[in-house]
Amino acid sequence: MNIAANLGPALTLEVADADSIAKLRHQAEGCTRCDLYKNATQIVFGEGSDKAEIVLVGEQPGDREDIAGRPFVGPAGRLLDHCLEDAGLDRERCYVTNAVKHFKFTPRGKRRLHAKPNAGEIRRCAWWLGAELNILQPKLVVALGASALYALLGPKAKLTPERGHILQPRNHPPVLVTIHPSFLLRIRDEEEKQRQRQAFVSDLHKAAEFPSR
Ligand code: URA
Repeated sequence: MNIAANLGPALTLEVADADSIAKLRHQAEGCTRCDLYKNATQIVFGEGSDKAEIVLVGEQPGDREDIAGRPFVGPAGRLLDHCLEDAGLDRERCYVTNAVKHFKFTPRGKRRLHAKPNAGEIRRCAWWLGAELNILQPKLVVALGASALYALLGPKAKLTPERGHILQPRNHPPVLVTIHPSFLLRIRDEEEKQRQRQAFVSDLHKAAEFPSR
């Protein structure tokens, strides 16, 4: 494990006025910490057991998640589920959440196109992520992509050099750095797609094998 004491998380592990994820989710329903709540259908909070030892952090809900009110239920979620299965990591063992809890999009005709959350939106929403981690006290957090990594470890942590590594910042659960599954969906070349998929599965396998408390 790489000791990364110089990395400052964008979040602090918050002491929220809630002692369970259900209570925290209820509080988050009224969140106006940034403007994204104005256009989203609803908040998409994390889901999974309060006893989950592994927390998977994505970027933000997509179109399907915004409508369903659940994280990772669209195309990226289905791909994530298949890769978790191939890695021997049961989604039921994990708590799945996002760095940003409201869908940010640009309307294009009848479609809503994903728009990347900016640093300010990620930092404001990191309050909820910190509170989730504080309640869950996981043994490992998996950063799926650059936005999750930014939320967890701040601007100094870079995806490409750290990818596949487990970082151990001070006062923070260890963070396994990997790509976001939607990166795989965007690769056109089939051989490259398979190569990257295999690398993603092997990253997730490290989470599956991570020592228990
Ligand atoms: N992408 C994410 O980062 N999170 C989701 O919940 C869905 C797609």
